[in-house]
Amino acid sequence: MIYPIVKFGDPVLEKPAEPVTVFDEELKKLIDDMFESMYAAKGVGLAAPQIGISRRVAVVDVTFKEDPNAKLVLINPEIIHKEGRHQQSEGCLSIPEFRENVTRAKVVTIRAQDATGKFFEKSGDDLLARAFQHETDHLNGKLYLSHLSALKRDLIKRKIRKLMKAGEW
Ligand code: NI
Repeated sequence: MIYPIVKFGDPVLEKPAEPVTVFDEELKKLIDDMFESMYAAKGVGLAAPQIGISRRVAVVDVTFKEDPNAKLVLINPEIIHKEGRHQQSEGCLSIPEFRENVTRAKVVTIRAQDATGKFFEKSGDDLLARAFQHETDHLNGKLYLSHLSALKRDLIKRKIRKLMKAGEW
């Protein structure tokens, strides 16, 4: 099932999501639906709050279907190590049509559970490190806007408010 993507302005995006404690068939279905929704929206990462579900589940595929092994399910993820700094243009499916340069750690190690509840650790650099940080932020109720200067952030929020008023958001 393809879920519509929740956009900036919906409070679900700005509150910490609930930890997952039950690893059942319903969770597997949610994960399948999240991959489907992410690909349909042309994204490389998606967190459950972005489909209106406040649970600590994220899916990532930085190769966008090229490499089946690149499909990652991150449940209750935590960043346990960060190294270096890297600035790159970043966007978010919940803030469509906007992109900004965001400085983040260049190399990141994450600790998470898979769909069966098994813990694993994985390191990534560049785009994968960025995805780990961006999606973990989502589960903590944080958007990339929070990494921008107040000036840039307010400018984007003003533009979004205009779009909302015009019924285009
Ligand atoms: Ni996002």
